[in-house]
Amino acid sequence: MCGIVAYIGKKNAFPVVLKGLKRLEYRGYDSAGVALLSKGNLLVYKKAGKVSNLEDYANQFDISGHIGIGHTRWATHGLPTDINAHPHVSMDGTIALIHNGIIENYDSLRKELINQGYVFKSETDTEVLVHLIDNISKKEKVWFGEALRIALHYVIGAYAIVAISKDYPNRLVAARKSSPLVVGIGTEGDFYLASDASPIVEYTKQVVYLNDEEIAVIDLENDGLKLYNIGDQQKTPYIQQLELELEALEKGGYEHFMLKEIYEQPRSILDCFRGRLNTNEGWVSLRGIREYEDKMIQANRLVIVACGTSWHAGLVGEYLIEDLARINVEVEYASEFRYRNPIIDERDVVIAISQSGETADTLAALELAKSKGATILGICNVVGSSISRITDAGSYTHAGPEIGVASTKAFTAQVTILALMALTLAQKKGTITQSALHTMLAELESIPNKVKRVLESNGHIERIAAQYKDVSNALYLGRGNSFPVALEGALKLKEISYIHAEGYPAAEMKHGPIALIDENMPVFVIATQGNSYEKVVSNIQEVKARKGKIIAIVTEGDIHVREIADEVIEIPETNECLVPLLATIPLQLLSYHIAVMRQCNVDQPRNLAKSVTVE
Ligand code: F6R
Repeated sequence: MCGIVAYIGKKNAFPVVLKGLKRLEYRGYDSAGVALLSKGNLLVYKKAGKVSNLEDYANQFDISGHIGIGHTRWATHGLPTDINAHPHVSMDGTIALIHNGIIENYDSLRKELINQGYVFKSETDTEVLVHLIDNISKKEKVWFGEALRIALHYVIGAYAIVAISKDYPNRLVAARKSSPLVVGIGTEGDFYLASDASPIVEYTKQVVYLNDEEIAVIDLENDGLKLYNIGDQQKTPYIQQLELELEALEKGGYEHFMLKEIYEQPRSILDCFRGRLNTNEGWVSLRGIREYEDKMIQANRLVIVACGTSWHAGLVGEYLIEDLARINVEVEYASEFRYRNPIIDERDVVIAISQSGETADTLAALELAKSKGATILGICNVVGSSISRITDAGSYTHAGPEIGVASTKAFTAQVTILALMALTLAQKKGTITQSALHTMLAELESIPNKVKRVLESNGHIERIAAQYKDVSNALYLGRGNSFPVALEGALKLKEISYIHAEGYPAAEMKHGPIALIDENMPVFVIATQGNSYEKVVSNIQEVKARKGKIIAIVTEGDIHVREIADEVIEIPETNECLVPLLATIPLQLLSYHIAVMRQCNVDQPRNLAKSVTVE
């Protein structure tokens, strides 16, 4: 969703904030704005469109100032226009504020403020915050930070907020609830704030993650950073060391982050299982959940909650855990689970999967499960994220920052963790023999090299992409654990190239979608060797009989499908359980090339945002 950056210190704030906004642009990119305190003035610059639009516009002015706040927006209330862009400013031009999240009761607050004479310029929910703070500050005769603290008692919803005031040129105030905010402690007595650590890492590695309902007051004249809860009790900041490296945030010579992240997968999968398995000694262990293994084995059921690509990984996890550890697993869309009064109690273990660790629906699903007594576990990529902090335990995927909005390496890392989890539980429960475990671990260890071999087919995949780049529809089919791969392939295509695509279990095709098939319909089929191979071949025949075009992902050396398919893409042989880790890669590359050929913005597809912090 939206991205927040702020700086307070001795440096010129504008370039720091602007650079930070560029790093955060993957979170939201429909408009951007900055506000700076400069020689007693509050300067505000806002522009619809990309951060580069804002940069071009603001660069016409001579901007200086040592306190600055900046925002990239992903519109929720009101169109992406200059006026709706943040920061929003109080009517007297004193206070400026940026916000990520949603103020659910903004309508009633807005009406109340209008009754008191406030005039709103924008259609946003955020503008109520700045007027409310101004109103409280004037009525209660308190400084804007105290007014902000009081204002939060009236607000229902989610927020990460940063505010500055012309009347306090050395202070900056921030608060969070259900939207991430991290404070970087600079080396020159200065401070950085951002929605995630990416704008901060090049200046400092010392950070403090704000917790829900915490307020950070930074006063350059009075001890720097102080933390409070909204009840005004002071809290001790917990300073953590960032492990993020700057190179992970750069494109490193690739044309797009998405391509870089696709190519990082041999390393990210390796990083994910490094230290968590030993093939020679024949063990696998996820330290993060070790204490909960018995609970998982004895659980009534494991419920996986997630959204989007992470939900697809959850479906692969269901196959893996049920097959290997024989434990009942259900996979739920977090957004559905949270609103349908699910039957859940202390005998259940609920596992959230989330790259960002901030997805609002997934967080809410976990909170609901916790309130009903379930054990809650997390599989997250972003260290220190909200989900990783509210769960009882969990495992990080260690894929490194994923900047491309379309998830790639996070998916394969999530599947890797789920494979490790399935094997850990199977080992503990005794549903896998030692020799089968040994074979599976060796196979898992060989995956990074096999992914490298799949990546070598990039040229071939690009040529296939060129043939299908102009289609309007596409179908993706798979059976067993390749069905979620089909879903993921279809999602990748639609989200970055805007081609309508559907993923289906191959056998379901004849119950409806087959009506769509004609000579213009490409059908991408995962047809690797395994239990359902013959059945998938029959499904391919059914498509061919209706003149559909078949692009099949097959096991190296396959001759049978090659004879009937229009195109084949080979992947190395592997254990059937692990096929999703390899079969996903060509589908990522296909979507990538098609989107590039259609001149779509691959890293920042329209209407999307990386971290969905609104429901
Ligand atoms: C698709 C994609 C989204 C996310 C979804 C959940 O490429 O990235 O579908 O998977 O928004 O996000 P996380 O995993 O951060 O909870």
